[in-house]
Amino acid sequence: MKQKTMFYCTECGNETPKWAGKCPACGAWNTIVEQPEAPKIASRAGGRTVRGVSVRRACPVTELQADEEIRFPTGMGELDRVLGGGAVKGSLVLVGGAPGIGKSTLMLQICSKLCEFSKVLYVSGEESEHQLKLRAQRLHVDSGSLYVISETSLGDLLGSVEAEKPDVLIVDSIQTLYNDALDSPAGSVSQVKDCTLALMQLAKGQGITVFVIGHVNKEGSIAGPKVLEHMVDCVLYFEGDQHTSYRILRAAKNRFGATNEIGVFEMRDEGLAEVENPSEMLLSGRPDDAPGTCVTCVMEGMRPVLAEIQALVVTSASGNPRRTSNGFDYNRAAMLLAVLEKRGGLKVSACDAYLNIIGGLWLDEPAADLAAVVALASSYLDRPVPRDLVAIGEVGLTGELRTVNQLAQRISEVRRLGFTKCVVPAHRADSLRPPEGLRLIPVRNIGEAIRAALRQPE
Ligand code: TYD
Ligand code: MG
Repeated sequence: MKQKTMFYCTECGNETPKWAGKCPACGAWNTIVEQPEAPKIASRAGGRTVRGVSVRRACPVTELQADEEIRFPTGMGELDRVLGGGAVKGSLVLVGGAPGIGKSTLMLQICSKLCEFSKVLYVSGEESEHQLKLRAQRLHVDSGSLYVISETSLGDLLGSVEAEKPDVLIVDSIQTLYNDALDSPAGSVSQVKDCTLALMQLAKGQGITVFVIGHVNKEGSIAGPKVLEHMVDCVLYFEGDQHTSYRILRAAKNRFGATNEIGVFEMRDEGLAEVENPSEMLLSGRPDDAPGTCVTCVMEGMRPVLAEIQALVVTSASGNPRRTSNGFDYNRAAMLLAVLEKRGGLKVSACDAYLNIIGGLWLDEPAADLAAVVALASSYLDRPVPRDLVAIGEVGLTGELRTVNQLAQRISEVRRLGFTKCVVPAHRADSLRPPEGLRLIPVRNIGEAIRAALRQPE
């Protein structure tokens, strides 16, 4: 039987049944190449044949054996948290992030714990063995179970795995790895896809836990398009501002756990340190008595985290006011400004408005609405929010305050960090028992909230 062929674009990975000079998806020229369609997987034993086509019977879910996945700690509690309670044996984890953010540092650091109970092979295409040794010394990673090799060829990598038989394999980075059976250069979509597939087979076939580092390019995707996300078990992104020392690790995909947990680290001279109290980190350096800032509490997975929202509202010099938001959904910020104008009575439509979340956090929870409104009003009215006040609540289109989930957990975190006042939606205030030392200020709408949060200067 003749094998059917498919074509795909080496630039964006788009598959197409016909060859074309120009890729219909990304518009690149001369990037469409032919790939033979994967041969059909032979039917397993137990199948039968209907009109020449083999049929494999589905199995009732009740009869399937559920094997618990085997998890192990990486020695970094924050990484374990994002992975859903440790790394899963035989899984493939992609760690993405901008160059220089600390991916290699994180991977080398976890080796010291992993080596206590397993053999680790660290394959680097980015650094020489000598450079790896220097980095390992700096990070105090010194174990006879850690094997390093500087290698970029997929064939040689597989040979090293065969020779060393490691339990954990770290590949730094997928963009430097190449399969010489393919014509395209290392880092191209077909190479990255092909090498990841080979690593996936290693993970599933031999039960090796594989961590793969991938650089995120300017557009924010790994290897240009996000070609790898659907292939791997977990995708973690390491984010942070190059100019500050804090780094946030979050899961974009996790086949073995939730994706809403974050891990927080600080880059120090001796490597990455875990930040167990992200709220303290996010609130450090908060200005005293400055208008335009308000603290809120959001849930990052199971963990309540305090975040500072800053706003700047100034009369616009042009007839077309500017609106910018950083770490906060742009459309939601625009909606809150409209509610502030219509229901709060502040003439913000003629003003430029900037909203910024401190510490590289992305607030996508409606619970942060109220603090954003209070920060905007504080900047507009030039009156500071008291330093010990936090605002939590979702704002509706009529300016009313809606309740948020896990309020009790949030207010106990608020108190733990020394705050004494918390503005909350009125209809939840009665059923809440605030922790000792915290006063709840129940409000029904944004007008009441602004009046309560921004007292006239005495
Ligand atoms: P690195 O892990 O090499 O980044 P990536 O692999 O994501 O490209 O980290 C690079 C940066 O981290 C570099 O600017 C130096 C800094 N760094 C420290 O501050 N302390 C350390 O102990 C190490 C190893 C790196
Ligand atoms: Mg690196």
